[in-house]
Amino acid sequence: MNMKLIKILAYPSLVLAVIALTVGCRKSEDTQKANSPASSPPSQKQFVIGMSQCNLGEPWRVQMNADIAAAAAKHPELKVIFKDAQNDTLQQRAQVEEFAGSKVDLIIISPKEAQPLTEPVAEAMDAGIPVIVLDRRLLGGKYTCFIGANNEKIGKAAGEWIVKALGGKGNVVELMGLQTSTPGQDRHKGFLEGIAGSNIKVIFQADMQWLEPRARDEMESALARYDNINLVYAHNDDGAHGAYLAAKAAGRDKQMKFVGIDALPQEGIAYVKQGILDATFQYPTGGAEAIDTALKILHGQAVPKEIVLGTRLFDAQNVAQGGEDLK
Ligand code: FRU
Repeated sequence: MNMKLIKILAYPSLVLAVIALTVGCRKSEDTQKANSPASSPPSQKQFVIGMSQCNLGEPWRVQMNADIAAAAAKHPELKVIFKDAQNDTLQQRAQVEEFAGSKVDLIIISPKEAQPLTEPVAEAMDAGIPVIVLDRRLLGGKYTCFIGANNEKIGKAAGEWIVKALGGKGNVVELMGLQTSTPGQDRHKGFLEGIAGSNIKVIFQADMQWLEPRARDEMESALARYDNINLVYAHNDDGAHGAYLAAKAAGRDKQMKFVGIDALPQEGIAYVKQGILDATFQYPTGGAEAIDTALKILHGQAVPKEIVLGTRLFDAQNVAQGGEDLK
């Protein structure tokens, strides 16, 4: 067959195929229409929330995301996109910019550091996107709502507990959370208030950046330098546990007490039950409260600028009864 003939024969069959397909599609559209109940309500508006988590390397943050996901799952109109900044401030800045650029309906951020994340959040606000800041603060007030516990109060309560536990005097190692993040600053400040007027001496202080392996390294240095350590105050349970492991490896864990913060059931509270930690102070994740607040904002309701979460003390005396509420 020559080429001209092939073209002429092929063309009408193409046309027929297109007609057949079009009719087929119409039919299936019609079928869908016929099957959907005429009285079904108009579909609910969907909202997209972008959640930027500073890292997922610590159990407390995994718990925060799980709390957000569980609360959001009760509201089918919400879709949460989670991003993990892997403890990298620049990556977290980029995530906020990306969420704002893709015009999500609301951003939740648990920022790694205060200063560098203030600007991208302010820019998202300028673009009309509400932002909920969870757990660690930013500088200034350009966000919709901050949710978190009072870290200064927790630090002070820890200081007061320590004064009592040591009978008013002793040598303490303080392993601090990242000092460019506000909980690290506030837990230190509160602690100094709590031990003020006592004979507690802080003989060694280091920024372990919230990380258990760093806390362990710093504690090894403290153990090498000081023979008489009565207590370790770490700004989180990971830090307290790292210090405990270092002391245990040196055969000195029985000589001192360990105090941490967070009190996750599977972590800090379990350590208190096992006698590894002597006390831990609960630091709620605020995940459920963030979703409650997001819903209000998305439905145009007013929310407070700040929601302060409570805390509980868990020590050997009260852990079996579920801890004690700190007013
Ligand atoms: C996890 C964590 C918690 C701590 C909180 C403070 O990254 O270090 O252990 O309570 O952050 O922001």
